[in-house]
Amino acid sequence: MVKNKKDTVVFFDTTLRDGEQSPGASMTFQEKLLVAQQLAAMNVDIIEAGFPISSEGDFESVKSIAQQIKGPVICGLCRANTKDITTCWNAIKYSKKPRIHTFIATSDLHIEKKLQKTRQQVFDMAVNAVKLAKSFCDDVEFSAEDASRSDVNYLCSIVEAVIEAGATTVNIPDTVGYSIPSEFGKLIATIKQNVKNIDKAVISVHCHNDLGLGVANSLAAVENGARQIECTINGIGERAGNAALEEIVMAIKTKPLFYPVNYNIKTKEIYKTSKLVSNLTGVVVQPNKAIVGVNAFAHESGIHQDGMLKDKRTYEIMSPQDVGVPESLLVLGKHSGRHAFFKRLKDLGYKLESNVMEDLFAKFKLLADKKKCVFDDDINSLVEQSVSGVQEVFTVDYVNVTSGVGVIPTATIRLVKTVKNKKEILQEAACGSGPVDAAYKAIDKITGIVVDLEDYTLRAVSSGEDAQGEVNVKVKYDGATYVGKGMSTDIVEASINAYIHAVNKIVIMHGGKK
Ligand code: KIV
Ligand code: ZN
Repeated sequence: MVKNKKDTVVFFDTTLRDGEQSPGASMTFQEKLLVAQQLAAMNVDIIEAGFPISSEGDFESVKSIAQQIKGPVICGLCRANTKDITTCWNAIKYSKKPRIHTFIATSDLHIEKKLQKTRQQVFDMAVNAVKLAKSFCDDVEFSAEDASRSDVNYLCSIVEAVIEAGATTVNIPDTVGYSIPSEFGKLIATIKQNVKNIDKAVISVHCHNDLGLGVANSLAAVENGARQIECTINGIGERAGNAALEEIVMAIKTKPLFYPVNYNIKTKEIYKTSKLVSNLTGVVVQPNKAIVGVNAFAHESGIHQDGMLKDKRTYEIMSPQDVGVPESLLVLGKHSGRHAFFKRLKDLGYKLESNVMEDLFAKFKLLADKKKCVFDDDINSLVEQSVSGVQEVFTVDYVNVTSGVGVIPTATIRLVKTVKNKKEILQEAACGSGPVDAAYKAIDKITGIVVDLEDYTLRAVSSGEDAQGEVNVKVKYDGATYVGKGMSTDIVEASINAYIHAVNKIVIMHGGKK
């Protein structure tokens, strides 16, 4: 295997930017920080933290990530204009390793129809953008949006000019996922051969998944000289998503003869990162998803199980431990003490303050009273809920629901509203089409926040007949989507917790005005 620096493929994670652009995947400020911390723990090389000009909230979260996250390069996205680039710099400049990522479209379709400019104008804008970015920061990335549908000679001329202007990474996106691997690999080879100063920059690729080829195209690019891959956790992103980080890194790890390159990702952190992103965004991972789906390492048929018992290599091309799928079936219950619980937290990779651990232990005890066995998944969910940083303005105090055949579903709900340590008890009743609908209507009456319920999913966390129900809701309020998650052994309670979780996010986002 080649071991020099040039042959390291660096991983540029854009879960917090392109990933967050996928419908309904928006995250709160605290949630973005949690994801950034975990990306750093997984050792990604570059975190694209957001698009600072797009909103005040995005600016603030990019800035906080730049201030707090150590290790990876922290990158912000900006269009090729002065205001975008300056704002981007003002957000990322706090990082020890800041990067400005500026972009403009280079395909005739985008130039003429979207930008309504000429090729020459776009060329000049690209060069000026890179020069301005370079005046702030040494590390500058330029992206030629829709590169794969651009005239290749024009694309090469822009790439050469931006490198001359100071770009240290040149990104070739397959913005609409239109390429196929042989074609995309050839494009990268052409750029490598024809751009005179290409050795002064890293070639990067950014492949969307509209034809399901994002990962294959990224790997074809690596074979042809790309040394940065832009990707997201679980492949989330615009439309059909982006190339999935976990799939690319495991392909490189599993096929070293085909990809004789180094990488810095700690693959054992993959599973935990995938779970975190899925839980926080509410974008569920399909069971048969490569690497991180629940079935990725499950063997059902008798022949396969027999083979596995004789030699795991018969049906496993990589080991689940390599991607951090928890091996342990250690189960905690109501007799488990503090020591066992804290040890389990540590084994699961959590490093938490002692007051947070104590608080979690109290929640664990309540849960263990309700269900016989507390599994790792239950513990992960408890931790994610506790540290997601969503301040609890409304908490549930009392619930009474009636439903049945020939009964009008009715709910009486009492919430405690806490603002600046002042508590107010609020109570309402409502009827609905079912117990959950009735409860949600009663909550709407109390909070005065009327939302559109866009999505509701219920699934069992962990196993056993007393498994906890986990409810994920997506609600729309004032044009934005909020994700809420709730858990309980009682599914109505889980549904109410999820709704309240989303409502609390709305209150926080609206500065407590509600
Ligand atoms: O898909 C795309 O082209 C992008 C660029 C901004 C890199 O996301
Ligand atoms: Zn993209």
